[in-house]
Amino acid sequence: MIYGKRIRLRGVERSDVPKFYEWINDPEVNEGLDVHLPMSMQDEEQWFEQSAQRAQAEKPMAIEMCEGNDWKLIGNCRFFHLEWTNRAAELGITIGDKSVWNQGYGTETMQLLLQHGFETLNLNRIYLRVYSTNPRAIHVYEKAGFVLEGTLREDAYKHGKYIDVHIMSVLRSDWNPIKEKK
Ligand SMILES: CC(C)(COP(=O)(O)OP(=O)(O)OC[C@H]1O[C@@H](n2cnc3c(N)ncnc32)[C@H](O)[C@@H]1OP(=O)(O)O)[C@@H](O)C(=O)NCCC(=O)NCCS
Repeated sequence: MIYGKRIRLRGVERSDVPKFYEWINDPEVNEGLDVHLPMSMQDEEQWFEQSAQRAQAEKPMAIEMCEGNDWKLIGNCRFFHLEWTNRAAELGITIGDKSVWNQGYGTETMQLLLQHGFETLNLNRIYLRVYSTNPRAIHVYEKAGFVLEGTLREDAYKHGKYIDVHIMSVLRSDWNPIKEKK
């Protein structure tokens, strides 16, 4: 497991699936996600089965926060589109438990994922896509050190409107000074 100050990242278990099902169908949670249709339990179970077949570094991880002596599931995250020659990967995060939004867990998760990506997976570029209409996520990514690389104009379509999608990234050369400041 990967331990931070208040959170840990662990492998996803089958028993996590009902929570993921609940979160992926929550309109407030999926507003910023590339999800357009209702997801059934069967869809989520299929996603779990397919995830289990992925290469270890691309398997999703459950985000848990420390609560007294226990750990509480609050979200999930993952690296994907890993390119070993280019040493690049894309990143995705969902804090599905809305009751803990704005308490720093998203930022801590991103910092931990950057550390994992650079110091364990030996990546050189970690990037993500974020809707321009998701200011909370953009703020979190900027706090973690991501910079805007460019914008895919009207790349997504939601609620009858096209949305610009930002590409943001952190390079290893950006990460070293960020790490030293911590
Ligand atoms: C985006 C997400 C990961 C952020 O997680 P979080 O735990 O709420 O984030 P944090 O508490 O670490 O930080 C939130 C920051 O955004 C700020 N914020 C909240 N609403 C905001 C808004 N509308 N505009 C700008 N900043 C906002 C908070 O003040 C806080 O900043 P601060 O610590 O400098 O005060 C989480 O809300 C989430 O998973 N949302 C649903 C799925 C999603 O959109 N995922 C991202 C897809 S790209």
